[in-house]
Amino acid sequence: MTGAGMSVESGLSTFRGGGGLWDEYPVEAVATPEGYSANPGLVLEFYNKRRRELAGIKPNKGHELLASLEKSYDVTVVTQNVDNLHERAGSTKVIHLHGELMKACSSRQPNNLEYVKSFSSPLDEINVGDLAADGSQLRPYIVWFGEAVPLMNDAIAAIRDIDAFVIIGTSLNVYPAAGLLNYVPYGVPVYLIDPNEVQVNGVRDVVHIRRGASEGVQHLIDNFLGEGK
Ligand code: OAD
Repeated sequence: MTGAGMSVESGLSTFRGGGGLWDEYPVEAVATPEGYSANPGLVLEFYNKRRRELAGIKPNKGHELLASLEKSYDVTVVTQNVDNLHERAGSTKVIHLHGELMKACSSRQPNNLEYVKSFSSPLDEINVGDLAADGSQLRPYIVWFGEAVPLMNDAIAAIRDIDAFVIIGTSLNVYPAAGLLNYVPYGVPVYLIDPNEVQVNGVRDVVHIRRGASEGVQHLIDNFLGEGK
């Protein structure tokens, strides 16, 4: 399970903490349905800017190591990130709990996949007046605060039968995503890769690898993972 810290070494910002995105932009203004109704142009531009950032960055060693684990293990990446760095590194099973910058959807029916479209370039934009196939304003395919998280069930299903659960670069502040840990079957080892302290709720033994994503995943592979499939 990954969060914003996974992409820090690629050059993206986290959301919380000093210099995080939510310091620069009020979360209510750019990541809620109310903010979008109040000022659609501002919200579309916020996500156009986030999408453009993808043109200038690359997956880091951490993304690459996770992708290469597929040679030996059955790996599902459940990410809160809306960037496309896991896919670009080669991970084939990625569940984006909070949506994807490289997709757009209908404002009226955001979760109707019939109206979801993929962008071909990170330089593509959504502007006021651009319409989805149902005639409503096109909007970013992003789960905003207060909205349902439709892929949560897929994430829960994906971890039903796992041998290890690895959390990388998330402050575990945002639910329901943070609650995924509660669905990890009892007895399955849980690893947390984060250079900082993270408050983990629930009664679980967690092995904290106190390193950045790239070094942390390497450490996990070298010290904790078994032989694989
Ligand atoms: P946060 O910004 O809350 O947390 C980022 C985590 O990454 C922190 O625990 C940092 O310590 C850690 N971190 C920093 N540098 C790192 C590095 N090099 N390697 C590994 N970890 C590092 O981001 P998220 O937990 O992902 O949702 O935020 C969750 C959700 O809140 C986001 O998906 C977004 C946001 O509001 C929506 O927009 C709906």
